[in-house]
Amino acid sequence: MKGIGLFFSPTGTTKKAVMKVYESLGLEGILYDLTEVNLRNEIPRIEENEVVVIGAPVYSGRIPALFEAYLKQLVFKGNPVVILGVYGNRAFEDALLEMKDIVGAAGGRVVGAAAVIGEHSYSPLLAGGRPDEEDLKKIGDFARGVERNLREGGGVSVPGNHPYRERKPRTPMGPVTSEACIQCKLCANSCPVGAIAYEDCRLVDETRCISCQRCIHICPVEAKVFDARVNPMVAGLIRDYGAIRREPEFFLE
Ligand SMILES: Cc1cc2nc3c(=O)[nH]c(=O)nc-3n(C[C@H](O)[C@H](O)[C@H](O)COP(=O)(O)O)c2cc1C
Repeated sequence: MKGIGLFFSPTGTTKKAVMKVYESLGLEGILYDLTEVNLRNEIPRIEENEVVVIGAPVYSGRIPALFEAYLKQLVFKGNPVVILGVYGNRAFEDALLEMKDIVGAAGGRVVGAAAVIGEHSYSPLLAGGRPDEEDLKKIGDFARGVERNLREGGGVSVPGNHPYRERKPRTPMGPVTSEACIQCKLCANSCPVGAIAYEDCRLVDETRCISCQRCIHICPVEAKVFDARVNPMVAGLIRDYGAIRREPEFFLE
């Protein structure tokens, strides 16, 4: 089957889940990693016979605002679409509903939806190492259900509320860089919003930063940590959700 994959994945967990769906469905076609800032400037043309797989991390119970804006530019031609929301062991709230609404409004038909657990961007003490082998196996089984819906024309309903959870204005903050920084430019080159200065990777535009933690994960010398103001929030998450194992949920009806 021909396919097209579109995902945003600053710390790689969404990418892992999307790739598993793609591979399990045996899709052939391009996977667009829209974490790459330049790729988001172009909107790919979706052909009639393509199965579309869309994946987003959950940020505050929603999909990231920049990915929402991107998805709203897509045009479908009645395509079957699989949507994946990847979240860090707390909750996915309105993320799947939001994606389903966007797809439906643009002429697509959601044939499968999944809320998958991914290691929390802020701490490996929250769902560390996930999605793991067990999760990937379940995603593989989910793909069999998607195939059935593709054959039989089924659509799905997903949980969530209207209006969606409100996006709160963000306090400007960003990564802090230690003396270990070797100015390799990896962070500046891979920041999804271009918030890190290429000339000096220690300089960050905190108003642009979306707190995705990509620079912290990608730094080869661990020179970056995030603004300590998030520590109490992260400690609270670890206290409340660190010891539980949530399981992925799949929506095929
Ligand atoms: C700004 C921000 C907000 C987040 N909000 C939530 C949330 O509301 N619920 C949750 O369970 N996880 C939340 N997470 C964790 C991510 O959803 C999770 O780590 C996901 O696997 C990240 O995807 P990625 O690896 O593709 O970047 C948040 C992460 C970030 C950076």
